[in-house]
This record gives sequence, C-alpha cells and structure tokens, in this order.
Amino acid sequence: MGELDGLVAVITGGGSGIGAAAAQAFVAAGARVGILDVHPGEYAAPASLPLTADITDGASVEAAMRTAAETFGGIDILVNNAGISSVGTVEDNDDAEWLRVLDVNVVGFVRATRAALPYLRRSAHAAIVNTSSIAAGAGLPKRALYSASKGAVHSLTLALAADLVGEGIRVNCVAPGTADTPWVARLLARTEDPAGEKARLEARQPMGRLVSADEVAAAMLYLASPRNGATTGISLAVDGGMHGLRLPR
Ligand SMILES: NC(=O)c1ccc[n+]([C@@H]2O[C@H](COP(=O)([O-])OP(=O)(O)OC[C@H]3O[C@@H](n4cnc5c(N)ncnc54)[C@H](O)[C@@H]3O)[C@@H](O)[C@H]2O)c1
Repeated sequence: MGELDGLVAVITGGGSGIGAAAAQAFVAAGARVGILDVHPGEYAAPASLPLTADITDGASVEAAMRTAAETFGGIDILVNNAGISSVGTVEDNDDAEWLRVLDVNVVGFVRATRAALPYLRRSAHAAIVNTSSIAAGAGLPKRALYSASKGAVHSLTLALAADLVGEGIRVNCVAPGTADTPWVARLLARTEDPAGEKARLEARQPMGRLVSADEVAAAMLYLASPRNGATTGISLAVDGGMHGLRLPR
C-alpha cells in the first residue's frame, strides 16, 4: 500500500525541478497527479495528467482544477510550488517587476488555492503544501523581492491553516535551501564564474552541498500524507542546516 493510495494531487510547477520530483514521488506513493504548469512536459505515466495553465490567469487555473477533478474524481492535495526568481536590492527592481513576481509567487498561490478549495472540501484527507524558501526566514543579499514573496508564502500558510483547520484541511509549507534544479542552473549561468558561484552556494550550507529536488519532494510527501494528519501550520526546513545551525568558521 502506498501512503497516497486513492488520493489525487495537483502540483503547480510540476513540469520541472522540485515540482517534477514531487510528481514522481507522489505517483510512486500511489497518488494520481495533475501537473499544472505553463510547460507541464510530456508525462507517459497513466497516473499523471499534464494541465497547461498559468497561475497568473485565474480562468486557466480554474479550468485546470476542473479537468483534474473530472478526470480523477476529485482533488485531495494541492501543492503550490510554481514560482519565479528575482535578484536584486530594493533599488534594482522597479514597481512593475515587484508586481510581476508577487503576481506569480504570492497571488498565484492564492488563485490556485481558491480554485482547489471546492474540491478539497469534499476530501476526507485534504492537504495543501506550499513551497516557501530559506529566504523567508534568513536575510540573503540581493534577494529583496524574492524574499518578500516567500515571507508572504510563509505567513499565508499560517493564516490559511487557521482559516481551514475547522474544515479538516491541513496547510503547511516546505522551506528549501538552495536546491539543485534547473532554476539554480539558470541563475549560475548568468554569473561571470558559474563554477565559483556554485562552490560559494554549496559552502553557504552547513552540509556543504546543495539540497536535492528529491529531498524537498520527500518533505512535501510527508506533509501531504494522511499519516501526518496532526501536522498543520508548520514550515519544514529542507536546507542542509542553513537556517538553524551556527558553525565556527
Ligand atoms: N531551487 C531552489 O534553490 C529553491 C530554493 C527554495 C525555494 N524554491 C522554490 O521552489 C519552487 C520550484 O522551484 P524550482 O527550483 O523547482 O524551479 P524550476 O524553474 O525548475 O521549476 C519551476 C516550474 O514552475 C513553472 N512556472 C513558473 N511560472 C509559472 C506560472 N506562472 N504558472 C504555472 N507554472 C509556472 C515553470 O514552468 C517550471 O516548470 C519555487 O517556488 C521556488 O521559489 C527553489
């Protein structure tokens, strides 16, 4: 028996990186999974359903949730994971860039949650897992906008958990450290010294290496699973010890 047997999950940003690893982990645990992404990819597994949608477009998100629910007979788990990066100080990014990133990283989570809630309410094992970041709880240089967006995800997770606990819907988030995904590969490729920059990112984490997408997916599976039915309103760090440890230099 898989721990998600009989359950249906929709994973935003499931076409790449952490979301794709979560889709694989959830299918392996017995779930059927809707992969909601602007580029959901080609999934051959009968348990996965590509759902082309943009979380900045409420109508496309609602249509994707409806398709997932009609195809699989409901939705039990929502993983709000699709997000975009932003580099810079408050002086580097203009208002348009702030609104663009917050529209995906914060309001996009709200749109997907709103669209999934009517289905989650009909589930006996409803759970929402949001992807926050180490940036929500630690000050990182040149990440003002991105950090503000992930701090909002953390606070939104707590508020949603409070609003929904009475309805039996659990809401938690994961807070990954720098994870080895195409996202980070793109960031590194834009630097003058990608190998040196990667070594600096690895050294920043007490374990001396990047987090893997599979490790974040395992934490998402833990938070989504009915086996952990008493866990709500938490942020689970998957960050190589970066947030909590202070090592001598
Ligand atoms: N990689 C890291 O170091 C790291 C660390 C902490 C948190 N995170 C968070 O993890 C999440 C996933 O990151 P990743 O590293 O797997 O990135 P990724 O770029 O590999 O994957 C992100 C996916 O989201 C999709 N997406 C982006 N905008 C979308 C939109 N408007 N609508 C629908 N889909 C959209 C992309 O198409 C892509 O498939 C993000 O929320 C990110 O902030 C990443």
